[in-house]
Amino acid sequence: MINDWQKNQEKQDSDKQSLLTSHGILPKHIAIIMDGNGRWAIERNLPRAAGHQQGIESVRDIVKASSQLGIGYLTVYAFSMENWKRPHMEISILMSLLKQYLINEIDELDANNVRLCAIGKLNALPKPVQKILSKAIERTAKNTGLTLTLALSYSGRWDIIRAVQMIALDARRGNLSPEDINEELFSTYLLTSHMPEPDLLIRTSGEMRLSNYLLWESAYSEIYITNLLWPDFRRTDLYDALENYMNRERRYGMTSQQMNIENTKASQSQDSYLQRILSTFSPKS
Ligand code: FPP
Repeated sequence: MINDWQKNQEKQDSDKQSLLTSHGILPKHIAIIMDGNGRWAIERNLPRAAGHQQGIESVRDIVKASSQLGIGYLTVYAFSMENWKRPHMEISILMSLLKQYLINEIDELDANNVRLCAIGKLNALPKPVQKILSKAIERTAKNTGLTLTLALSYSGRWDIIRAVQMIALDARRGNLSPEDINEELFSTYLLTSHMPEPDLLIRTSGEMRLSNYLLWESAYSEIYITNLLWPDFRRTDLYDALENYMNRERRYGMTSQQMNIENTKASQSQDSYLQRILSTFSPKS
């Protein structure tokens, strides 16, 4: 289904996107650590809030570009559990920007088939934010395009501990036994169980750490770090990250040679699948 964002796209940009999609397999899931809002503002002698405000413009552009590209999942780190330690004034500015973002964007997100989700300790958010957030989530729940997940009051370790507690409870109730616990089952207890693991993890501002983001889920993610500060990161920078990602070889612990064999097998089975489909459409003589 073509959405409004795709219909109204500039030719040069859609050509660039077509080039990217023809180049290889795009990531199904992109996760982003949006860092550097404060430094962006300080460099310009502006209050930190101006950096966060400008950061929202980057969020808007990246969401739109991801949707146009047909990316399935985009997960952005909007507020970590550790961010509660920031000065009260900055927290309250971030919360009101978040509220404003949801109010301003929900119609356009919905019209463009975006499904909004959130992960984190959401009951720690101010009540008015919780209310608007859950309304937006409910309203877009049936959308089938890009799934945009906001990580809010989120911590990877917290989610892992939460999952362990729930597994222990299920074991105590007799719903599962310790031998049933494996990676697959464990993943179903995480807040991210509705999405595939991130293929590409982008961090802006040049810092080389995960900052407690998607710790379990990013085990095999390709990491892309750019020195750009988040408010300067726009769609052309996303395209650079995607190009870089598509030129990498993902080996999942195997050798290059094994990966070549796996890829040949996958493309052969896809070919025979296509042949079977095509044969059902061939004219009967
Ligand atoms: C990190 O920059 C960024 C944050 C803590 C918040 C990110 C929030 C936004 C981009 C705006 C709100 C988001 C949405 C989805 C509405 P920093 O402040 O740590 O920057 P610094 O490291 O340069 O100080």
